[in-house]
Amino acid sequence: MTETDKRLLAEAKRVREFAYCPYSKFAVGAAVLGSSGTIYGGCNVENASYSVTNCAERTAIFHAISAGENDILAIAVVAEGVKPVPPCGACRQVIAEFRIPHILLANLADQVREMTLSELLPDAFSDEDLEL
Ligand code: THU
Repeated sequence: MTETDKRLLAEAKRVREFAYCPYSKFAVGAAVLGSSGTIYGGCNVENASYSVTNCAERTAIFHAISAGENDILAIAVVAEGVKPVPPCGACRQVIAEFRIPHILLANLADQVREMTLSELLPDAFSDEDLEL
C-alpha cells in the first residue's frame, strides 16, 4: 500500500462522517485522486424518494470532475461491514466511464481489497459501443 493509497483511504473515512443517510443509516465515504494530485471526497446523500440517492463513489467522482479534473487515477471507498464494501452497479458504470484503474475497497476494521476495473465491471458498456 502506497502513501497515496493511505491518504485516499483516510480521506474516504473522514468524509464518511458527513454521510446523509437517515433512511438506511449506512454511511459510506469515497475519495478519488485526480491527475493534478488533488484528492476529492464524497459521501452518500440519500433522499426521501429513495431512488434519488447518490452513492459516495459518484459524489466523489462528480466532485473531481466538477473541479476540472479530467483524469482520475484511483478511488477508495470505505463503509462499515464484515468485508470491504462492494460498489453498486450504477457506481461501477460511472467508475468505468472514467476508466479509473486503481480501486480500493475498505471497511472500518481496515480490511482493504484492491480491484482492477475489469474485475469490477467486466465487459462494460462504453463510448466504443456508441460508435455505430
Ligand atoms: N451506498 C454507497 O454510497 N456506496 C456503495 O458502494 C454501496 C451503497 C449507499 C447508498 C445508500 O445511501 C446506502 O449506501 C445503502 O444502500
